[in-house]
Order: sequence, then C-alpha cells, then structure tokens
Amino acid sequence: MAPSISTNPLLSLLLLTFLSLSIFHPLTTAQPLCYMCETVVNYTSNSTFASNVNTLLASLPSNTSSNNGFYNNTVGTNRDPVYGLVLCRGDVTPATCKSCVDVAIQEIKQLCPNNKIAYIRYEYCLLRYSDKRFFSLMEDATKVILHNSANITNPTEFLPVLEDLLSSLSNRAANDPSLGMFATEKTKYMGSQDVYGLVQCTRDLSMNDCGRCLEGAAGDVIGCCSSSRGAKVLATSCNLRFELYPFYTASDSGPTPAPPNPTSKGMLLIRFRLFNLYPFLLCS
Ligand SMILES: *[C@@H]1O[C@H](CO)[C@@H](O)[C@H](O)[C@H]1NC(C)=O
Ligand SMILES: *[C@@H]1O[C@H](CO)[C@@H](O)[C@H](O)[C@H]1NC(C)=O
Ligand SMILES: *[C@@H]1O[C@H](CO)[C@@H](O)[C@H](O)[C@H]1NC(C)=O
Ligand SMILES: *[C@@H]1O[C@H](CO)[C@@H](O)[C@H](O)[C@H]1NC(C)=O
Ligand SMILES: *[C@@H]1O[C@H](CO)[C@@H](O)[C@H](O)[C@H]1NC(C)=O
Repeated sequence: MAPSISTNPLLSLLLLTFLSLSIFHPLTTAQPLCYMCETVVNYTSNSTFASNVNTLLASLPSNTSSNNGFYNNTVGTNRDPVYGLVLCRGDVTPATCKSCVDVAIQEIKQLCPNNKIAYIRYEYCLLRYSDKRFFSLMEDATKVILHNSANITNPTEFLPVLEDLLSSLSNRAANDPSLGMFATEKTKYMGSQDVYGLVQCTRDLSMNDCGRCLEGAAGDVIGCCSSSRGAKVLATSCNLRFELYPFYTASDSGPTPAPPNPTSKGMLLIRFRLFNLYPFLLCS
C-alpha cells in the first residue's frame, strides 16, 4: 500500500497562491527544487523515533556516495522504524553526491523539524524518509512539471524528435539493468540543433514500475511542453528532463559538464496535480 497522505483542498489553494508568488526565484545549488513535510503527526525531539531519524540521516551520505548514488536504509526495525532513501543524479561524482546529500540533511532538519514524513529534492539529489515503509512502491501521483517559457522554433518538427528521445530514454532506463535506472541521450532536431534528455528512477523500484513512472512523465511532458525549449517532470519515484543545451555529464564523449545548476533559469512551474497533493509540497 502506498503511504497515505491526507489532502486538504484549502491548503492546496493556499499553496498555489504561494507558488505563483515564488516561481520566479532563481535557484541556487543549496536551494531545493521542491520539498514536502507531512505535519499532521509529529514526533517529539527526545523520542525513539527522533533518535532513529538521526541515525538514518547519518547513515546516508557516505553510504550513498559509495553505492553509486543510491542508498535506502531502515532504522529501528522493532520500534518506531524510519525508512529512508537517497538518490543522486546518475552522472554526478561521488563527491558531488555526498555534498548534495549533506546539504539535503541539514535542510530537511530545518524545513521539516519533527515531521514523520519528509521529502526534499535538489538538482543533484533527493532525500526521502517516512515512518511508513515505501520501498518498491512506485509513487507518481504528485508530480511537478517545470518548463522553459521560451518556445522552440519549429514545434511540428520537434514533437516527433522529442517523442522518440523520451521513448528511447525510458526504454533504456527500464530495460537495461546495467544502467542503474538512469539514462541520458542526445539527438538532433532540424539537422543541427542538439537536444539532450535525461531520465532516472529510484532504484528500489522494479524495472517495470520504473518504466511505468517514466512513461507517465513522458506523456505529461509531451502533453504540456513539446513546444518548450526545455522541461522537467519531478515525480516522487522518477524524473525526466530535456534541454537544448548539455546539462549532464556524459560517460562517453557527449556533452561537457554543466556548471552547477544553470538549469532552472527561466523555468516556470506550470502544472501541479491538484488531486493527491502533498501537504506543503513547495517548489521554487
Ligand atoms: C508539526 O510540526 C510543524 C512544524 O514542523 C507544525 O507546523 C505543525 O503544527 C505540527 N503539527 C502538529 C499536529 O502539532
Ligand atoms: C521528553 O522530554 C520531556 C521534557 O523534557 C519529558 O517530559 C518527556 O518525558 C520526555 N520523553 C521521553 C520519551 O523521554
Ligand atoms: C552505512 O550503512 C551501514 C549499514 O546500513 C551502517 O552500518 C553504517 O553505519 C553506515 N555508514 C555510516 C557512515 O553511517
Ligand atoms: C531497500 O529497498 C529494497 C527494495 O525495496 C528492500 O528490499 C530492502 O530491504 C531495503 N533496505 C533496507 C535496509 O531497508
Ligand atoms: C510559446 O507558445 C505558447 C503556446 O503556443 C504561447 O502561449 C506562448 O506565449 C509562447 N511563449 C513565448 C515566450 O513566445
């Protein structure tokens, strides 16, 4: 069963108002793309759960960076268990991964003090923990889609290129076990313009669920953003992005490393699932 998170329509409206005010803020590496704190039930600072959260968080940075950028852990199997995972973007170095996770831990403690369920996502990593076991459960009911407000010159020619790119990426990430549920790819549009894509799933998923999550995200981006010069879909279990410039580090001779997060400039938050919205899922 998926972790159940209550929905409050009033809260959703407030949240959207807030979002409409905050979407133009430029992002820095230290600023999360999105975060969510479940505040309905809190834990107390000196409880067993609190100590389990601290033990869990402390186990994440080194284990994640030494485990190819993914690590999940459970602390407190007999009493007040806490479940957590970290995923780093598949192309970042172990050092970048670790420093992203270090920041995520500091920030999640500040942003979600004493909250039993929390989630924070940066360009280079995401961190999630909960008092309910969520491993292997594909979660994409809450998605955030950001897109570049600038348009592509020839949307008619771009659409099939984008469809092929996203379909190829999703197939590779979900069908080639050697990729670790991460794929990047470059293609061309109008003969000369490079288009860069990236997809990734959290590695607790089955290959099949990874494919389902990415297909959903690809469908969303085709539906909303096939005239945009770039877009990203952030679902809890997977994410997808395309741009007309190199934003990832290719393992082969492809794009050059992007500077830390040049990405979200000009990105607008365009869509938010109104149903099943997490309380306090905030995005910049
Ligand atoms: C839980 O903590 C948050 C702050 O993190 C607070 O806003 C909220 O009111 C608390 N919830 C309860 C039920 O006390
Ligand atoms: C936590 O601390 C409060 C106040 O310091 C105390 O009243 C309470 O008994 C403590 N609870 C536990 C589980 O230690
Ligand atoms: C890494 O994980 C293992 C097993 O979960 C744990 O024993 C160890 O303490 C963790 N490493 C750190 C630095 O916490
Ligand atoms: C990590 O997730 C996998 C996949 O669901 C699960 O089998 C494993 O028990 C989890 N590890 C821990 C330490 O909870
Ligand atoms: C991009 O295209 C959309 C839909 O075709 C249009 O509404 C929007 O104004 C365009 N944006 C710019 C910056 O031209």
